[in-house]
Amino acid sequence: MTTRVAILISGGGSNMVRLIESMAADDHPGRPVIVISNRPDAAGLGKARALGVETAVLDHRTFGKDRAGFETALAEILAAHAADIICLAGFMRVLGPEFVMKYQGRILNIHPSLLPKYKGLDTHARAIQAGDAHAGCSVHIVTPALDDGPVLGQASVPILPGDTPDVLASRVLAAEHQLYPQVLRDYLTARANEQ
Ligand code: GRF
Repeated sequence: MTTRVAILISGGGSNMVRLIESMAADDHPGRPVIVISNRPDAAGLGKARALGVETAVLDHRTFGKDRAGFETALAEILAAHAADIICLAGFMRVLGPEFVMKYQGRILNIHPSLLPKYKGLDTHARAIQAGDAHAGCSVHIVTPALDDGPVLGQASVPILPGDTPDVLASRVLAAEHQLYPQVLRDYLTARANEQ
């Protein structure tokens, strides 16, 4: 049985594209059922549709400070598509504890640092500032605490002399594109074997 995967984005969606492409393999345990963006103008929406994946927009701004309302509507879209697991791929909203516990152990996120270092924003600038020799990315299970859940996989890249945050970000992003599809496949395979 294939696992139904929802992907949540806010922007360009390059990780989302890699995830969708990876699930096209015949022997892949997952398939993408819906791409949801909290921003109507996210460039990733068109890319998902071009790859034949249904999309939905849930504009967080229309909910104001009502995070519970936003998350209820999000859960309704996920239920309508019978999503089993959720991949956050450049999704720039924090999900509240109630939502996270509803999908406990079934939400994955990619974060552009070698966790537990540099949770939150501006990870590349912080790694350069600290004089680190390496930066990287982590795929982890989402728990109620930000960027804190169990790490499923990491990839490391060097920080080179003269790197700006943007230069480092593009080196890390290339590593993200390799790591996330591999971790998703491994995670879904392990999950299928448990069931
Ligand atoms: C990635 O670096 C991701 O780790 C971060 O935001 C970026 C999203 O890129 N949270 P994309 O939308 O997948 O192209």
